[in-house]
Amino acid sequence: MKEIKILKKSTFQEAVKFVKHPAKVAIAVVKCNEDKFNLITLEWFMRTSIKPPMFAISIGHSRFSYECLQKHRFFNLCFPSKELAKETLLCGTKSGRDIDKLEVTGLQWFKGRLAQLPVLKDSVANFECEITTQVRSGDHTIYVGEVKHSWLDKDKKVLTHKDLT
Ligand SMILES: Cc1cc2nc3c(=O)[nH]c(=O)nc-3n(C[C@H](O)[C@H](O)[C@H](O)COP(=O)(O)O)c2cc1C
Repeated sequence: MKEIKILKKSTFQEAVKFVKHPAKVAIAVVKCNEDKFNLITLEWFMRTSIKPPMFAISIGHSRFSYECLQKHRFFNLCFPSKELAKETLLCGTKSGRDIDKLEVTGLQWFKGRLAQLPVLKDSVANFECEITTQVRSGDHTIYVGEVKHSWLDKDKKVLTHKDLT
């Protein structure tokens, strides 16, 4: 008789390690004040609607970006190209409380159409979103934004989590 393998009881930490990759990585550009913007690297994001197109991003309450999003109800969800591994890592390890990430990374950008949010040049796609809903999720808040403007560079390849290691 064929042996039936059953799943073994696991800790959450152990089980989640086996299912979290491969993951795409994005950078959300948020507005901090009238002429300052911050960048935060994200793994926890998803599409949530076809019509209208929407994305959700999950932001930890300890992040500077959380303070920004509570004040300014926009984000630009940017999908960096493979060339931006170093900058993506920096945006995911340093806080906008301590440094101006746009300046330190030297990333090239132009003003988008929504709240003049920077659109990052060396990326595959950028989606400028206006926040319509937010939900608290433990120590993070999920911001759901409606896509108002999209930007694309078909010649670039999208960065994945693997490119960061
Ligand atoms: C690959 C990667 C993925 C990350 N994903 C998330 C995420 O989905 N949500 C989040 O709140 N922080 C995430 N982080 C952590 C933030 O990017 C990091 O804490 C950042 O320094 C916060 O910047 P801020 O204080 O300027 O907002 C991630 C970091 C890395 C390196």
